[in-house]
Amino acid sequence: MASLIRCLVSAGPTREYFDPVRFISNPSTGRMGFALARAAAATGWETTLVTGPAGFDDPPETQVFHVESAEEMHRALGLRFSECDVLIMAAAVSDCRPRRRAPGKVKKGDMEMCVELEPTPDILKTLGERRRPDQLLVGFAAETDRLEAEGRRKLMEKRCDVIVANRVGVPGSGFGAADNAVIVLTRSGAPQRMGPAPKDELARQLIACFSTMISKEQRA
Ligand code: CTP
Repeated sequence: MASLIRCLVSAGPTREYFDPVRFISNPSTGRMGFALARAAAATGWETTLVTGPAGFDDPPETQVFHVESAEEMHRALGLRFSECDVLIMAAAVSDCRPRRRAPGKVKKGDMEMCVELEPTPDILKTLGERRRPDQLLVGFAAETDRLEAEGRRKLMEKRCDVIVANRVGVPGSGFGAADNAVIVLTRSGAPQRMGPAPKDELARQLIACFSTMISKEQRA
């Protein structure tokens, strides 16, 4: 692995349009992903951020690519994945999208007939299938229940080294909240709880934790 760590971070929601003015999305604001990109750059990593529509200024010392849909995010990450040492997939990618995008505004009476859904590509899983063993793959798991069990399932299914599991759908953590509490799951170690803490602080702790994992990898 090169001595300068190259880190690729994804953040924010994606938008899946079904006509020029309406889309399917989720409440993610990008706060956690942006905090991770800032913390990665501050630690001296060469950082690239691919973000969906988010409400924050571009982090300093970071190359930023703005995308909207899952498809665009997939393409942007796919192009840069082989060059990175660490992928941190903090984006809340929409799981489904309209099968067709109408060229003009759909009238409200016609919506039920026109919005047929299909799954979006699972970006992390696809990248996991072409990963190198020397890369560190970090996924997130946004869960309302069974955090650890669901996080472990995603760890294996998406071929990640780390899953950061966090609770969504409750006030004070998850989408848009200023603070977060997470469980860090790895393939071999014991689960590690972090927070509740402000997302900036949590991001610094997470980057320090990933740094230790990379150092171990380099020694192996
Ligand atoms: N993810 C992805 N592409 C998708 C959906 C999710 O890359 N189409 C990534 C997320 O960025 C996150 C991880 O997969 O790092 C887990 O996302 P999550 O929404 O928790 O789970 P899903 O894979 O969508 O599974 P489920 O709906 O069963 O919870």
